[in-house]
Amino acid sequence: MQDFPGCALALGLALALPLLGLLAAPYIRKYFAGGKCTSTAKLNGKVVVITGANTGIGKETAKDLAGRGARVILACRDMVKAEAAASEIRTKTGNQQVIAKKLDLADTKSIREFAENFLEEEKELHILINNAGVMMCPYSKTADGFEMHFGVNHLGHFLLTFLLTECLKKSAPSRIVNVSSLAHHGGRIRFEDLQGEKSYQWGLAYCHSKLAGILFTRELARRLQGTGVTVNALHPGTVASDLPRHSTIMNFLWKLLPFLLKTPQEGAQTSVYCAVAEELGSVSGKYFSDCKPAYVSPQGRDDETAKKLWDVSCELLGIQWN
Ligand SMILES: NC(=O)c1ccc[n+]([C@@H]2O[C@H](COP(=O)([O-])OP(=O)(O)OC[C@H]3O[C@@H](n4cnc5c(N)ncnc54)[C@H](OP(=O)(O)O)[C@@H]3O)[C@@H](O)[C@H]2O)c1
Repeated sequence: MQDFPGCALALGLALALPLLGLLAAPYIRKYFAGGKCTSTAKLNGKVVVITGANTGIGKETAKDLAGRGARVILACRDMVKAEAAASEIRTKTGNQQVIAKKLDLADTKSIREFAENFLEEEKELHILINNAGVMMCPYSKTADGFEMHFGVNHLGHFLLTFLLTECLKKSAPSRIVNVSSLAHHGGRIRFEDLQGEKSYQWGLAYCHSKLAGILFTRELARRLQGTGVTVNALHPGTVASDLPRHSTIMNFLWKLLPFLLKTPQEGAQTSVYCAVAEELGSVSGKYFSDCKPAYVSPQGRDDETAKKLWDVSCELLGIQWN
């Protein structure tokens, strides 16, 4: 009997906490959903390329831009998945101008073939979204011998952008959107071991490649000044997608805590914002998260490293990009 107040309190809490949780759930969800692109811009007559658009953030970005009337090219490595995504987007948006094309960013030959085919078939390119990405892969190399994260996330998109830049300039005003990550904060450009041959840690390899994307954006923005082509980078948020497929722990956490993650549609908002927002028409070289400017790490603001990475990337790819 003496324990009655304690028991009553415990019972009260046991009933109140789940109720509070239930009442707070929509607010918690709204908080984790993050920023939303509110632009109603239409894209009729505009041509868009999105890499890795068969699933996750890329697919939702493609769906949104197709819904705005753009001709959207899904540039993907797996044509079965790509055709399925294109068909789904065509059905959902009613836009028949959604096309799947083969692009494997882990193979420079495939990147060159994609660009060649694109330039033959399309007259203009208004929005290029470098979205595809790999994370936490076991050590592996691309067809050209580049470490997989560095090769796909950075060098693959670097080469693709190089091959499409003249077309973007010709189609100006046009935009390049580089999907990076908050993970860039943990990255460093290890010029002494870019291919991770001396030491490799899968988590860090992702961070390094995402930092490379931020530095690429910075240097490219400087070089594109006055051309009518802008380039910005972004963090999409923590999104429930296939990205952690190589990590059992991350996969488990992703499945355990879905309400703390953005849906792919929520994760696509900042990509869409960078691609269409009217107020970003002349903004270039910036980094966004939740549809607003975000903090870039000191390593990501290092112009000297950005310039050196540019030169080394050109050298590795055997291109001249002045
Ligand atoms: N999800 C997050 O929490 C998060 C956070 C920060 C940044 N990001 C970034 O957001 C972007 C999209 O990721 P996501 O979350 O949507 O992941 P996802 O669902 O795994 O999608 C990644 C896409 O990239 C494609 N891809 C991978 N390797 C490729 C290659 N060699 N050539 C062409 N395409 C390739 C994948 O194709 P397959 O389907 O054929 O594998 C897939 O379409 C990535 O750049 C990622 O780093 C995501």
